[in-house]
Amino acid sequence: MLTIDLSGKRALVTGASGQLGRTMAKTLAQCGADVAVHYFHNEAQAQKVSREIQAMGRKSVAVQADFASEESVYAMRDLLAGGFGLPDIVVNNAVSQYRWTTVLQQDSADYLDQFRSCVMQNVLMAKAFAPHMVAQKYGRIVATNTECAIECFPTQSAYASAKRGQDGVLRCLARELGPSGVTVNQVAPGWTISERERENGLDDMTHYLPQVPLGRRGTDQEIANAVAFLCSDLASFITGAFLPVCGGKAMTAI
Ligand SMILES: NC(=O)c1ccc[n+]([C@@H]2O[C@H](COP(=O)([O-])OP(=O)(O)OC[C@H]3O[C@@H](n4cnc5c(N)ncnc54)[C@H](OP(=O)(O)O)[C@@H]3O)[C@@H](O)[C@H]2O)c1
Repeated sequence: MLTIDLSGKRALVTGASGQLGRTMAKTLAQCGADVAVHYFHNEAQAQKVSREIQAMGRKSVAVQADFASEESVYAMRDLLAGGFGLPDIVVNNAVSQYRWTTVLQQDSADYLDQFRSCVMQNVLMAKAFAPHMVAQKYGRIVATNTECAIECFPTQSAYASAKRGQDGVLRCLARELGPSGVTVNQVAPGWTISERERENGLDDMTHYLPQVPLGRRGTDQEIANAVAFLCSDLASFITGAFLPVCGGKAMTAI
């Protein structure tokens, strides 16, 4: 039987206190990895995810960093290096939330916030963690992108432009790190059902569903499955890929 086996690997998932990140972290642990659970403000949620991973028999720690601060990312790296160990796998998934509106209405600060959250997160995570991967000639970097970066619909400009910037960084990084055995890929979810909506009820999706060829919204587990695949040796010859996981709503050009 073919399985996704991450046993013996250490992973770090950013934004693992958030909706999709917590499922990614637990899924990598189910595949056998030890997992560091990153958070920004919500330490209690990160500790809960970390405890759930420990209950699976894996090692786990909760670690804090703010992607608006270079020092805080290096502090997170140094903390991991001194205990849990530096990761073989990083999943760059955190994102800061802001109000969506038109270009003419959007505050300039929102563009800078999204640039830090998407572009600089991936730059700083590479600077902090890729040298170890290069030294050991093995590593997996997977980042969360979005269908919005393909579609560029009205009111999404700060988010879509930052995720497109992230894509530019990661395509260059895939070429730069490929010779060292490090792969760099992205998963681009559609509008995804996660714990928040399972607990509070589904948002109105009347306008969304007719646009999805598979006729439904995806789940956090379906996103995490794609991340786990790209983190595994089953994806050993895939790098620089941008994988939409959105039921066909957005399709990339060949
Ligand atoms: N949910 C969807 O339907 C959907 C669809 C397409 C793409 N995505 C992408 O999937 C990823 C996860 O989205 P989500 O919906 O799960 O987000 P979320 O629930 O809002 O979680 C965001 C995470 O990012 C962390 N964070 C926020 N600002 C940060 C900062 N300045 N520095 C460090 N960490 C910070 C938060 O930490 P604290 O909570 O600890 O403060 C939280 O863990 C994102 O990259 C998003 O663009 C999501």
